[in-house]
Amino acid sequence: MIRVLSIFGTRPEAIKMAPLVKRLEEETSVENIVCVTAQHREMLDQVLEVFGIEPDFDLNIMKERQTLSDITVNALSKLYDLIGKVKPDIVLVQGDTTTTFVGALAAFYRKIPVGHVEAGLRTSNRYSPFPEEINRRLTSVLSTLHFAPTKRNKENLLRENTMGKIYVTGNTVIDALKYTVKEDYRFEDPVLRSVDFSSGRYILLTSHRRENIGKPLVNICRAVKRIVEEFEDVKVIYPVHMNPAVREIVFPILEGTERVILIDPVNVIDMHNLMARCYLIMTDSGGIQEEAPALGKPVVVLRKETERPEAIEAGVAVLGGVEEKKIFGIVKRLLTDEGAYQQMAKAVNPFGDGRASKRIVKAILHEFGLSDPPEEFN
Ligand code: UD1
Ligand code: UDP
Repeated sequence: MIRVLSIFGTRPEAIKMAPLVKRLEEETSVENIVCVTAQHREMLDQVLEVFGIEPDFDLNIMKERQTLSDITVNALSKLYDLIGKVKPDIVLVQGDTTTTFVGALAAFYRKIPVGHVEAGLRTSNRYSPFPEEINRRLTSVLSTLHFAPTKRNKENLLRENTMGKIYVTGNTVIDALKYTVKEDYRFEDPVLRSVDFSSGRYILLTSHRRENIGKPLVNICRAVKRIVEEFEDVKVIYPVHMNPAVREIVFPILEGTERVILIDPVNVIDMHNLMARCYLIMTDSGGIQEEAPALGKPVVVLRKETERPEAIEAGVAVLGGVEEKKIFGIVKRLLTDEGAYQQMAKAVNPFGDGRASKRIVKAILHEFGLSDPPEEFN
């Protein structure tokens, strides 16, 4: 039996690890162990509930307004002890959060090999996204197996002479989409349940990134206000992240604005169905940039650069920056120029084909001599 310890802590890691954890569960030669740091609490629990995952260990580290050092110190000491006790054959981490980096570091200190899911994304700007660009680079250095979603991600790792073995697998975030989006879906969130998506055009907005908190988020909110003022058929739905630093900027500017609907974070099935029903998406989220193209929804990326250029090259995402005027201009064009909109509203899958988890499990079995290697995603 291969003892696999999966470690994750935030909403996006949970969403992207869930399909993999489910696959590992089915594998008879794997002992599947899950540890959550609970860097996020409510937003993590929403995902665990949807996928029916009951962690074997829950480190419950979240504190309100936690600093990066709070997360690092608390998670590291607890994970180091846990890995010492569990003695896994391999530790899996996902993405670029502080839980990701610290999970890999704790495993390295115990000389346990690390498999990094979603390896090789890069912006080459150490402060954007912050601290994620450095978290994922540090994780690459610590990992022995790199599960790169795309060929470009693999090339990034090769360019850095990364130690270890690289598998191109696709992104696990696409694996879940097949099961979540339904035409006759009934929303769990009461506000979403009451929305008539055939009345007008709905824009889905999310913004939470640390480097956007402050003036950039103010600019984003102001651009949204201008959009609904100028376009009477447009409504904006914004599930607002639970971070108080985000909420105390968003609510004073947007609360009470006509046709702007502010709601709490919704569960991922609601979210995917919401994405499938909206006209376009404005976001600074990484995961949403990957999901939206698969659903044929144009994305205005509320950042200055992206580690996911595949969507921009495919013509389904555009960099909107973080200035009010620029964001407003780009969204206005998509709302008024049908040709420009249609060019972006095409379903493409640069990030995965729904079989990433399968490939990752096969790669792990292969490393332990129990399977052929998986075919690469391309
Ligand atoms: C974290 C990740 C970021 C990822 C994001 C996904 C780091 C440094 N950042 O950022 O990469 O994109 O998650 O959403 O790893 N909070 C709650 N309940 C929750 C979740 C958060 O109350 O369920 C509040 C807490 O006050 C917490 C704060 O939000 O202190 C910030 O959470 P934190 O995980 O530190 O940062 P995020 O911005 O969520
Ligand atoms: N998401 C969700 N509910 C929400 C907002 C987002 O389930 O209210 C999902 C979204 O579909 C995607 C993931 O959360 O799968 C993205 O998480 P987030 O934006 O927090 O993090 P990032 O991807 O930027 O790291």
